[in-house]
Amino acid sequence: MDKFIIKGGYRLTGEVTISGAKNSALPLMAACLLTEEECVLEGIPELRDIQTMEKLLKSLGCEVERDSKRLMHLSAKKIINYEAPYELVKTMRASVLVLGPLVARLKKARISMPGGCAIGDRPINLHLAALQKMGASITQSHGYVEVSAKKLRGANIYCDVPTVTGTENMIMAAVCAEGITIIENAAKEPEIVDLVNFLRKMGAKIEGEGTSVIKVEGVKGLKGAKHKVIPDRIEAGTFIIAAAATCGNVLIKNCIPEHLEALEFKLREAGIQIEKYIDSIRVIGNRNIRSVDITTMPYPGFPTDLQAQFMALMTTAKGLSVIRETIFENRFIHVSELKRMGADITIKDRNAIVKGVEYLTGAPVMVSDLRAGAALVIAGLMAEGETEVQRIYHLDRGYESMEKKLSRLGAKIKRVKEK
Ligand code: EPU
Repeated sequence: MDKFIIKGGYRLTGEVTISGAKNSALPLMAACLLTEEECVLEGIPELRDIQTMEKLLKSLGCEVERDSKRLMHLSAKKIINYEAPYELVKTMRASVLVLGPLVARLKKARISMPGGCAIGDRPINLHLAALQKMGASITQSHGYVEVSAKKLRGANIYCDVPTVTGTENMIMAAVCAEGITIIENAAKEPEIVDLVNFLRKMGAKIEGEGTSVIKVEGVKGLKGAKHKVIPDRIEAGTFIIAAAATCGNVLIKNCIPEHLEALEFKLREAGIQIEKYIDSIRVIGNRNIRSVDITTMPYPGFPTDLQAQFMALMTTAKGLSVIRETIFENRFIHVSELKRMGADITIKDRNAIVKGVEYLTGAPVMVSDLRAGAALVIAGLMAEGETEVQRIYHLDRGYESMEKKLSRLGAKIKRVKEK
């Protein structure tokens, strides 16, 4: 197991280029199951989660190859299997994204039920209820859910809460269903818009992506298409916060500023200077960051995937910051690790109350999930002395070459093998 050793107190300066979005790439790859023809995806990041999805798609009979230009070619001419096994789903919940495409293409799927994970219970009841409304029957046994349908029919679906992968599964199930599907209270995340743009190139008829009502008109079949994944707004947000937290001056290249408006607003409120360009953002930090409150919300609200990183920034801000997590019930595991570094944080229900301290001090800390890990890296960059970040395999799931990108910006960070 690898770990990061970070020597804190160095300003980040220079330029960093953001990779393709993990949470777009995963549904885009799953969507390739919807056609017999070859699809080509550009900008797919090299991440552990992508490897897991690749493994899953291959087990279903889909050929997946990367060429010398870093294009990913996916060809699901013949699907030979309809199961997402426990071994893969337990390492990556997003494996559940093959559910919609498999039911659309084969009229059946067998998916291991994802159990709880570090950040919360994370059920898939809404994914299943939608398929049921479209005519599928659902049975559960031995930890697996089996979905089968004679045919899928368009349906009116209402999501009790906006769910990102749920909306993606519903859209993918509906693209070739008979008739029209309306998804109400759909998630509006940019990754859903990216998926719809790809599906449209494949011949799907969809309207309303990026709004809370999505209309899908079923078509007879889909064809192959080529698509470039959008930049990762969470990776961009993580580097933006890291730059702000180290009083840095960094140009974040290959990002879509419109996708980061909630973060931008909050950083400006905290006194950070932000300059926006067409596809880049410059962040200029300073020593007088003010505490501000945030509440995580579905897009376009403040993303839960940046909550932990923002909390790290607030640990040394001036004043009191109330951080409210409304999406996942258990996404404060980083709090006890940040406290070991000297942060003053109290949890009350879904709120973390962060009282800014003078400085953090380096300590050995343990990563519990991807974004908590990003927060601990940022805290390590801010802290006096050395921080040892353990269990960084969580970071390898979702940040491409994180330590290399940070080193190029002047961070003192190295990866070492844990004994
Ligand atoms: N929910 C239900 N029932 C469902 C589905 C969701 O009650 O059937 C609830 C969840 O428990 C949660 C809320 O709805 O309280 C929203 O969850 P959502 O389904 O939107 O989350 P997700 O689709 O499982 C995606 C991202 C997560 C990100 C969340 C929220 C992917 C692959 N994952 O998860 O990303 O935190 O949306 O924005 O897109 C990460 O990248 O670190 C990560 C965890």
